Amino acid sequence: MRWAHNTIPMASSRTASMIFLSFALLVFSTFERASCAAAFTNATCIEREREALLEFKRGLVDKSNLLSSWVGDDCCSWKGVRCSKLTGRVLKLDLRSPCVVPFYFGDVLLDQFLGHGNCTLTGHIHPSLAELQHLNYLDLSWNNFSYAEIPEFLGSLSNLVYLNLSNVFAGKVPCHLGNLSNLQYLDLNNFRDFIQYVSGYATVNNLEWLSGLPSLKHLDLSGNSVRNAQQWLQSISMLSSLQFLGLADCSLPISDSTLQVNFSTSLEFLDLCGNNIGIGSTIPNWLLNLSSTTHLDLSGVFSNFDGGAVSFPTEIINNNKQLAFLDLRYNSMRGELPKNLSNLCHLFALKLGGNDLTGGISAALGNPFSCLQNTLRYLDLQGNKISGRLGDEIRHFKNLEYIGLSGNSIEGPIPVYLPQLSSLKELDLGYNNLTGGIPESIGQMSNLFYLVLSNNLLKGVVTELHLANLTSLTWLDISSNELAVKINPKVVPHFNLI
Ligand SMILES: *[C@@H]1O[C@H](CO)[C@@H](O)[C@H](O)[C@H]1NC(C)=O
Ligand SMILES: *[C@@H]1O[C@H](CO)[C@@H](O)[C@H](O)[C@H]1NC(C)=O
Ligand SMILES: *[C@@H]1O[C@H](CO)[C@@H](O)[C@H](O)[C@H]1NC(C)=O
Ligand SMILES: *[C@@H]1O[C@H](CO)[C@@H](O)[C@H](O)[C@H]1NC(C)=O
Ligand SMILES: *[C@@H]1O[C@H](CO)[C@@H](O)[C@H](O)[C@H]1NC(C)=O
Ligand SMILES: *[C@@H]1O[C@H](CO)[C@@H](O)[C@H](O)[C@H]1NC(C)=O
Ligand SMILES: *[C@@H]1O[C@H](CO)[C@@H](O)[C@H](O)[C@H]1NC(C)=O
Ligand SMILES: *[C@@H]1O[C@H](CO)[C@@H](O)[C@H](O)[C@H]1NC(C)=O
Ligand SMILES: *[C@@H]1O[C@H](CO)[C@@H](O)[C@H](O)[C@H]1NC(C)=O
Ligand SMILES: *[C@@H]1O[C@H](CO)[C@@H](O)[C@H](O)[C@H]1NC(C)=O
Repeated sequence: MRWAHNTIPMASSRTASMIFLSFALLVFSTFERASCAAAFTNATCIEREREALLEFKRGLVDKSNLLSSWVGDDCCSWKGVRCSKLTGRVLKLDLRSPCVVPFYFGDVLLDQFLGHGNCTLTGHIHPSLAELQHLNYLDLSWNNFSYAEIPEFLGSLSNLVYLNLSNVFAGKVPCHLGNLSNLQYLDLNNFRDFIQYVSGYATVNNLEWLSGLPSLKHLDLSGNSVRNAQQWLQSISMLSSLQFLGLADCSLPISDSTLQVNFSTSLEFLDLCGNNIGIGSTIPNWLLNLSSTTHLDLSGVFSNFDGGAVSFPTEIINNNKQLAFLDLRYNSMRGELPKNLSNLCHLFALKLGGNDLTGGISAALGNPFSCLQNTLRYLDLQGNKISGRLGDEIRHFKNLEYIGLSGNSIEGPIPVYLPQLSSLKELDLGYNNLTGGIPESIGQMSNLFYLVLSNNLLKGVVTELHLANLTSLTWLDISSNELAVKINPKVVPHFNLI
């Protein structure tokens, strides 16, 4: 998911990112098999492999001195290089740019960018790398090879289990990657949006070569063009161990909606955001039948259906109780909010904004015994046709951090119990038909940093009591109501608005 698809106003998103900013580095298993013998031998670098690494280094331009440790005989002690203790063979080459900064919301990676500092290798990738025939892990992500094409010879590194070329290459993706029969992780994500503006993203002309990668668990092609691969779904559908499938913004062509996929019980993560893959008014079967998926991003996927609208695909929530993240924004969905949401006991983010859904929130969330009330943290229903009042039910959602309900037809008063939602950081109720005054209790919400109540029918007086303990507030919009603001000029506010 990218910012481009996000409706949260910029300021609030940025602040949210700051709050949840996490520099956690992903730690991967080394793929090196433990061996008892390793305790007794300390094999050092093999000369041929050292020469290959040095040749590879000579092809690079290393202005940042990232490879300053690449001197001396023992290439196994060089930065980013790991060898087998037993044989001295190079098993792992991790040259990921050290400056990648990820933005998380909870556990969900929202965005990444390259920070400042000594960040990238440039130059070209020398074919001497093919000498490292025992290599099982190669990560070159976020370096700058001037958007060259992926070198075909990488397909000869037949022991590779992990290949991360994210945000490195443009041009054509070579079918030679299909020779990597041990591959489990293939990351070709071009997240870095500007690549697309600068030189056009990478292009995948067909995916038939995936048939050579039967063990693939993780496939990420997000941000590359798959437009010409008409049979993309047929090729991917064969991958029966697939757990992660990233195909955001791939310009996917319309696929056969009746096809069955072999990964319907293994897939845990699916991102198809920003592709229109439907035809007629049916949602492809395979999307309805994924039973292990915890992260499902289908925003903007059904929006171009010929007849316009689909109704909420209830099969998705009935067939899959594992869902933790569900994004179905901008899909021209009509009809009632689904009634079965409260069956989802792991859901923390529900994003249904930008559809035409009707009905009351209470009906969808309102089961007082539902486990959803303990898990839900992010609720986006903006820009629908939701009506009714904000009932007592929402009171029980103690872990909600974000409520986005702007642009609906919600009536009645703002509930006085809001401070009981003690985790709430962002509340957007703008553009509805809320009536009555703003309850003074709102002034106790010390975690709230974003509050929008504008464009409603609110009346009454706002005093310093309404703002007393809003110590985290950075954004306040109560405009376009019938409110009078009477703040005692002697009161010093406890917040810093931007
Ligand atoms: C291997 O290297 C480790 C750590 O560098 C050292 O403690 C150990 O004594 C070495 N073993 C042999 C057999 O050289
Ligand atoms: C980059 O590395 C050089 C030494 O290799 C160091 O002097 C310099 O301060 C570093 N710059 C940054 C921004 O980290
Ligand atoms: C590839 O590297 C990027 C960072 O450069 C990281 O975010 C991503 O998770 C990696 N992919 C895999 C499959 O580990
Ligand atoms: C990448 O490298 C090219 C050529 O070395 C350079 O012109 C370009 O500015 C670099 N881009 C970034 C983002 O560092
Ligand atoms: C690798 O794949 C390409 C294209 O699929 C093929 O032409 C080539 O012969 C293969 N190489 C090896 C070593 O198997
Ligand atoms: C995938 O499923 C099809 C039909 O359901 C089956 O013929 C094929 O053998 C399966 N492939 C794998 C790799 O499991
Ligand atoms: C769902 O998957 C099962 C097998 O896992 C299959 O028998 C059934 O036909 C599928 N249903 C749909 C609607 O695709
Ligand atoms: C809700 O879920 C139950 C079982 O989980 C199912 O029997 C029922 O048909 C579902 N209702 C709707 C409206 O989908
Ligand atoms: C608010 O109520 C008025 C009068 O009932 C109605 O005309 C208007 O459409 C409503 N606005 C919204 C956003 O529901
Ligand atoms: C603000 O918080 C303080 C300390 O938590 C409390 O004593 C006070 O009553 C609160 N004021 C309002 C208006 O809620």
